[in-house]
Amino acid sequence: MRLETQRLQLRLPEMADLDGYAATLGDPEVVRSLGFGPRTPEQTADAIERMLRHWDRHGVGLFSVVRKNDDRLLGRVGFLLWDSDSWRNALNHELQGPLETEIGWTLGSAFWNQGYATEAAFACRDWALGELGLTRLVSLIAPENTASIRVARKIGEALEREHLPGPFDRRIDLYALGNGPAR
Ligand SMILES: CC(C)(COP(=O)(O)OP(=O)(O)OC[C@H]1O[C@@H](n2cnc3c(N)ncnc32)[C@H](O)[C@@H]1OP(=O)(O)O)[C@@H](O)C(=O)NCCC(=O)NCCS
Repeated sequence: MRLETQRLQLRLPEMADLDGYAATLGDPEVVRSLGFGPRTPEQTADAIERMLRHWDRHGVGLFSVVRKNDDRLLGRVGFLLWDSDSWRNALNHELQGPLETEIGWTLGSAFWNQGYATEAAFACRDWALGELGLTRLVSLIAPENTASIRVARKIGEALEREHLPGPFDRRIDLYALGNGPAR
């Protein structure tokens, strides 16, 4: 599976992305809003495997975002399924029950504020609502994560629910576009 935008290629993650992901997911500034600490290279390799497993099991997942003009890995943007009762996700758990499809984004800090997350997110959104036939997407975002909220709003999501009852270490709100909750 592959998507393309003016400046970006979105393709499945691969182990050759390890150095790029290790730099991004090992950076405390990047992971601060993600609910986990900086990843070691070993944990990052495991994260790549889990991203690929998510694609295999669910037919959607997180894309590696590669800049076309220099082949740099900028980060990951794409999809992650959540159980809408327990608010646990399919990267870390085998899920049953009603699921929500999250559209999410994480880029290395050197690449922030150049419109890349928005550009990749529009391509993912259009693929999901078009080819995949989904009618609803959500994003789980902490209220202080202004940049992420901006991206969510730019692709048409709006705040739907505050303070999800999940296993989070902080307040997490639900942004959504499309038909009402999946449950
Ligand atoms: C969230 C993230 C992916 C955004 O990536 P990005 O490529 O910088 O996003 P874009 O450039 O497409 O858009 C960012 C928007 O947020 C705005 N923004 C960025 N930092 C901001 C800040 N500190 N305060 C207010 N607005 C901010 C930008 O101005 C831009 O909005 P605009 O187009 O209206 O000007 C990136 O910051 C990131 O990877 N953060 C760490 C991981 C993370 O938090 N992921 C989301 C978890 S929910």
